[in-house]
Amino acid sequence: MNIVVLAGGTSTEREVSIDSGTMVCRALREKGHQAILLDVFFGLDEVTEPLFGPDYDIDRAADKMRANSGEVQKTARERIEFFGSHVIEICQKADVVFLALHGANGEDGKVQAAFDLFGILYTGTDYLSSAIAMDKGLSKELFEIHGVPTPKGITINANKGYSVHPAAYDLTFPLVVKPCCGGSSVGVSIVNTQEEYEKALQDAFFYESEVVVEEYVYGREFSVGVVDSKAYPVIEIAPIQGFYDYKNKYEAGSTIETCPADLDDETTHKMQEYAVMGAKALGIKSYCRLDFMMREDKKMYCLEANTLPGMTSTSLLPQEAAAIGIDYPALCEKLVSLSLQ
Ligand code: DAL
Ligand code: MG
Repeated sequence: MNIVVLAGGTSTEREVSIDSGTMVCRALREKGHQAILLDVFFGLDEVTEPLFGPDYDIDRAADKMRANSGEVQKTARERIEFFGSHVIEICQKADVVFLALHGANGEDGKVQAAFDLFGILYTGTDYLSSAIAMDKGLSKELFEIHGVPTPKGITINANKGYSVHPAAYDLTFPLVVKPCCGGSSVGVSIVNTQEEYEKALQDAFFYESEVVVEEYVYGREFSVGVVDSKAYPVIEIAPIQGFYDYKNKYEAGSTIETCPADLDDETTHKMQEYAVMGAKALGIKSYCRLDFMMREDKKMYCLEANTLPGMTSTSLLPQEAAAIGIDYPALCEKLVSLSLQ
């Protein structure tokens, strides 16, 4: 098949996306597909290259994308013009587009909605569930409605007036403060005091005007992929230092990951059940990965769903797939096949 792997973008996870896209592109070519790597908003150079040819140089394309990272500040109009005039046209020539985008303007449903308009097939869930899952506050409300346990929390908006006292919302320290629609823990803080809390709010508001504040769950961290409505094995994530922040997510060796996680069968099945319920609560089709915390008393909480989870060499979903005998190229093909159903 002719496949465009769309990566890069403008979000805080741009570099992660380039890593995901490069690996996916290589894997799909290994499987005999004519895959090319395309930056969603930049990089006119790539467009002039022969498309879908056998000699496509993935590393060169990835290097160009990294070199374009400085252009992220281009105006919205310039980005949209590039997307509208080049990306749509190239993607229309592909059989399917593999979305290796993370974060805003990629994982949040906007690209998916545009592709729907143009009749372009893409991997991952649709625009609506992408947008819902990107909003951690809205996701929390839907989890609660659908019986998926999630930490107690609220969404506050910098422009709508709010109290800087967590007690006003019946929340007690320690708290987690996070931008409502971010990813890879960018702008996330765990705070224990009022002073730390006020600083964390300012940090998070730097990224977005909406911020989720929730009670921190002491315990172990897990993640569960849901592919085609079925749960993958549970993976445990144990950062050697601190929490599973950006550095611990992407620096090899900084986190111990165990898959399948060392949990009794009952706990494993319960978490997998909540993962499937959580995906359904947000209307997610195709695939996603949900993150959990579990206390010592085994009470578990779903933190969020990632509709385009990382596909880098240290990412979690590929490790979960490997635990059930699905290697990385086979996983990529599986995700492609789901988009063709
Ligand atoms: N947001 C990152 C890419 C993940 O969930 O894996
Ligand atoms: Mg996320």
